[in-house]
Amino acid sequence: MQLIDTHGRVATDLRVSLTDRCNLRCQYCMPAEGLDWMPSEDTLTDAELMRLIGIGVEILGVRDVRFTGGEPLLRRSLPELVAATKALPSKPRTAMTSNGLGLKHTAKALAAAGLDRVNISLDTTDPATFEQITRRNRLHDVVDGLAAAREAGLAPVKVNAVLLRGINDAEAPDLLRWCMKHDYELRFIEQMPLDAQHGWNREAMITADETLTLLGEHFRLTGLDGRGSAPAEKFLVDDGPHTVGIIGSVTRPFCGDCNRVRLTADGQILNCLFAREESDLRTALRTGASDEEIARRWAAAMMTKLPGHGIDDPTFLQSSRPMSSIGG
Ligand code: GTP
Ligand code: 5AD
Ligand code: SF4
Repeated sequence: MQLIDTHGRVATDLRVSLTDRCNLRCQYCMPAEGLDWMPSEDTLTDAELMRLIGIGVEILGVRDVRFTGGEPLLRRSLPELVAATKALPSKPRTAMTSNGLGLKHTAKALAAAGLDRVNISLDTTDPATFEQITRRNRLHDVVDGLAAAREAGLAPVKVNAVLLRGINDAEAPDLLRWCMKHDYELRFIEQMPLDAQHGWNREAMITADETLTLLGEHFRLTGLDGRGSAPAEKFLVDDGPHTVGIIGSVTRPFCGDCNRVRLTADGQILNCLFAREESDLRTALRTGASDEEIARRWAAAMMTKLPGHGIDDPTFLQSSRPMSSIGG
């Protein structure tokens, strides 16, 4: 069985959200007061999560498993979940998208458990700007977490930055210099309509074109081929060896090559980051469905995957599920 949709795309990359909680409050993600977190009885247990990951990998052809959140490091059992995923007979590749807080204490254990690599969110290296964006004074923790990830061999260490007009956009060249100096692969992401406050607007978004123009004033950028299904378009910076990525989800959508499927912490399958329909595997799990039956339901969930996110359609409606409980 495969996770194939009606447009012929095959999902082999599973993004698993381990919790909707987070210890930052990034303004493009959630309000200062946080959100009503998912009730614990709705959250999948480790055993339930591992059963679904196992079905994805061993029955449905998933090759890559990425742990996300909210903040995945807030799930204490993360090293055990990584180890159990890596111990599956098909040995999927494993990755994590995290804000890096506390990673300095766990990077080694995660690498030992079989985590292959990490993507860490960092929008600025200026402490005041960091606090303005995340509403927390924790820049030093992220910087330490990044260093620990590199030392633990979680390579390549990628950095995700969302540029916000008038807040950190002018710092983009400095952030790139800093990442190159520390050997982190930086990617600039267009802000997407996924914030819990539903405050996104297209005019405020820094587009991929704008980012490239801004960087082009400081660096010589050469486009690289071989993107495949990756969201990031890569550019060689000056004469290399470093690269910078541009994730233009809104103005340069890559939906036609999408190979992703998402599992939320409460056991729902989302066939797209922007999906407004969910398929409930939690109830199936908890009412005694067999692995085969769950796999069939999961495969059926892919059939309604739309050809694109439709952000430009006049009828576009943002999902009621915020980024922090989808996992990006
Ligand atoms: P790599 O395998 O390291 O390239 O991971 P990634 O860039 O796909 O994952 P990451 O979690 O670091 O996400 C970076 C940005 O890409 C985030 O803003 C994600 O929301 C966005 N992103 C990831 N997958 C998709 C997708 O399927 N569609 C869209 N539109 N954006 C995505
Ligand atoms: N638009 C684009 N990227 C976002 N992220 C969080 N919210 C948004 C948004 N509204 C990024 C985070 C993290 C990744 C999972 O998604 O910075 O790196
Ligand atoms: Fe937390 Fe990520 Fe949302 Fe920031 S973007 S508040 S790090 S879940």
